Amino acid sequence: MSSKENVSNEKNINGSNQSGANQPGSYQTESKQTDSRQSGRLEKKIALITGAAQGLGEAIARRFAAEGAAVYIGDLQKDAGERTVLSINNETGKAHYINLDVTSEQSWSLAMETIMKQEDRLDILVNNAGINIREPIETMKAEQLDAMLAVNVKGPFLGCKYAIPIMRKTGGGSIINMSSVCGLIGHRYTPEAYTVTKGAVTLLTKTVAVRYAKDNIRCNSIHPSTADTPLTQVILQDPIKRQERLGEVPLGRLASLSDIANTALFLASDEASFINGVALPVDGGTTAD
Ligand SMILES: NC(=O)c1ccc[n+]([C@@H]2O[C@H](COP(=O)([O-])OP(=O)(O)OC[C@H]3O[C@@H](n4cnc5c(N)ncnc54)[C@H](O)[C@@H]3O)[C@@H](O)[C@H]2O)c1
Repeated sequence: MSSKENVSNEKNINGSNQSGANQPGSYQTESKQTDSRQSGRLEKKIALITGAAQGLGEAIARRFAAEGAAVYIGDLQKDAGERTVLSINNETGKAHYINLDVTSEQSWSLAMETIMKQEDRLDILVNNAGINIREPIETMKAEQLDAMLAVNVKGPFLGCKYAIPIMRKTGGGSIINMSSVCGLIGHRYTPEAYTVTKGAVTLLTKTVAVRYAKDNIRCNSIHPSTADTPLTQVILQDPIKRQERLGEVPLGRLASLSDIANTALFLASDEASFINGVALPVDGGTTAD
């Protein structure tokens, strides 16, 4: 499978609900699956979320915007990204699309320049963009590994590189890196390359956390178990694979978009002001088992 197949443009326009999200072939992108409570927890904050045209990133962007943040949706998928922006702006918040290829240093530099011109600050960065080329180690081509390292590791690395100096200047910030349960444990159903990239994100996070705490920059990672998004369609449409994934979760269900978005919201907000360097599983107990 190519990385392109893993960044599908497909959108669920049926607005399937939480229980529907656990049916084969459905995934949750609409606000029905996200928690739209508003209490201004991110009032006046500026947030950049990578890979936010769809899936988990989109849910995080919606949640942040509902809590008062101005959100920048950084993605390669212009049409999908602009649709998300439009829908957020129609609902609650302030959203902008920003073209960003997380694998490109030049792209990061331009994106940050644009945000600084418009906002003169960046309070929150969510390094969420990620791909999974589902090929076991014995058949994975070196170029496929390179492609995964580029998006999943170089992406967050460059994100931190460009966000840190900006956050330092304005008195601090919160960086949230999207890892996975596969960044904490060996995972029997997931190819090695993915666990390699997500494990790297776990320790990138901890190192940034301890080095830049002096600048009041917090850095934490989120480790979801399987959630229903375009990335996981290929697994969740297969009844056997779906059952394997459900079977490993003590709470017995998939992670919902709200589960992840609410966790990101907490880590982004001032409520988490003493939380730094944490690798937080959002996995119904999977990694505790
Ligand atoms: N869905 C899950 O079950 C699950 C579980 C654990 C961790 N994760 C992680 O959560 C993150 C989001 O996953 P998702 O399920 O929402 O995936 P998704 O495929 O639905 O969305 C990923 C987004 O990233 C964007 N993207 C890909 N390459 C990019 C690049 N080079 N530059 C900018 N944007 C790029 C895509 O265009 C897409 O909008 C990923 O890091 C993934 O590894 C997902």
